[in-house]
Amino acid sequence: MSKLKWGMIGGGEGSQIGPAHRLGALADGHFAFAAGALDHRPDVGREYGQRLGLDADRSYGDWTEMLSGEKAREDRIDLVTVATPNATHFEITKAFLEAGFNVLCEKPMTMTVEEGEEIVKVAEKSGKICAVNYCYSAYPMVRQARAMVRNGELGKVRLVVTNFSHGHHGDATDADNPRVRWRYDPAMAGVSGQFADCGIHALHMASFICDDEVKTLSADFASTIPSRELEDDAMVNFRMEGGTVGRLWTSSVAIGRQHGFDIQVFGETGGLRWASEQPNQLIYTPVGGRTQVIEKGEGGLYEDAQRLSRVAIAHPEGFPLAVANIYCDLADAIRGENRDGLPNAAAGVRSMAAVHTAVESAKDGGAWLDARPSIFR
Ligand code: NAI
Repeated sequence: MSKLKWGMIGGGEGSQIGPAHRLGALADGHFAFAAGALDHRPDVGREYGQRLGLDADRSYGDWTEMLSGEKAREDRIDLVTVATPNATHFEITKAFLEAGFNVLCEKPMTMTVEEGEEIVKVAEKSGKICAVNYCYSAYPMVRQARAMVRNGELGKVRLVVTNFSHGHHGDATDADNPRVRWRYDPAMAGVSGQFADCGIHALHMASFICDDEVKTLSADFASTIPSRELEDDAMVNFRMEGGTVGRLWTSSVAIGRQHGFDIQVFGETGGLRWASEQPNQLIYTPVGGRTQVIEKGEGGLYEDAQRLSRVAIAHPEGFPLAVANIYCDLADAIRGENRDGLPNAAAGVRSMAAVHTAVESAKDGGAWLDARPSIFR
């Protein structure tokens, strides 16, 4: 099978997420790195792209140049990843979808709900794939958890509790560091700080494993470092369409917690726990029974969990290979195989609606509000 051609916008040298995409896209041999506009400084981006092996005529200075260059080629890219800062996602994703390219967009997909709804419509009209990089949902043991819920191994899910709380912005003496400060500045980050940055991964994960969608929520936001305009800590209670009760805590000032992303799902006949810092293990307790450790790579896993494990049991795979799993699903989807685990534009706009609803709720003393985007009401 010939390789698909892959391009990337953003993710330049020294960026946080760029390396994970390059490792992920190239890990399984589905894609060849063919084009890029990697940096906001055209010359720096061109030079870095060539250092990474791109041909000079496909290492572009900016994304508009890349769009027209790729559109004009017979051997145009099959997929473009948008890994630029948040405020640029909408414009770039929309333009590439309209031009007939498949897109993987970083989270958050857009800044507003209206933009998100437009992306859903543009993707539908174009018939192209618009995926959003909720990469934690592609860990094999998260896929196992979802399959267990779908297969009734927990009974009806009563409760989901999730945290994405770390302490890396907890040092008040570092709050003015420009790499930290922008995240809490509405001019740069939008309406929400920590909830839009990390909380939406946890919210997506709750929907993903429970196979259900968030319907209403009530939020409490706090800026525990007073110079911060946007929240660095949030507690969000929610209810899902199927009645499941949800609790979510996200924080960037929880000193001592490192990555700090975990989820517990409690059903009528059992409970599950997964944590990103021990991603190979899924902890399962049937009601009245012993707690069991289900291990990535062991026999008898559901197909999705087995398919997305590569190395032998007990060898860690980790974050870049979770991103690689998104690319595996994308390659399958581009080649015509349905992969319903792939987070799509609908998931992207649901997250944006939840962010804006949480902001409103927090301002309104924690009022319970409808968290669904209007297109899904
Ligand atoms: P960063 O600031 O470390 O890097 C951004 C890169 O994009 C830089 O190389 C910059 O030169 C380039 N860039 C900026 N504007 C550009 C433009 N107009 N055209 C081409 N290149 C441009 O940012 P980081 O942390 O890598 O975040 C990028 C995106 O990835 C964000 O949307 C963020 O939310 C998301 N992200 C997602 C994660 C996940 O777990 N899915 C984890 C970390 C980031």
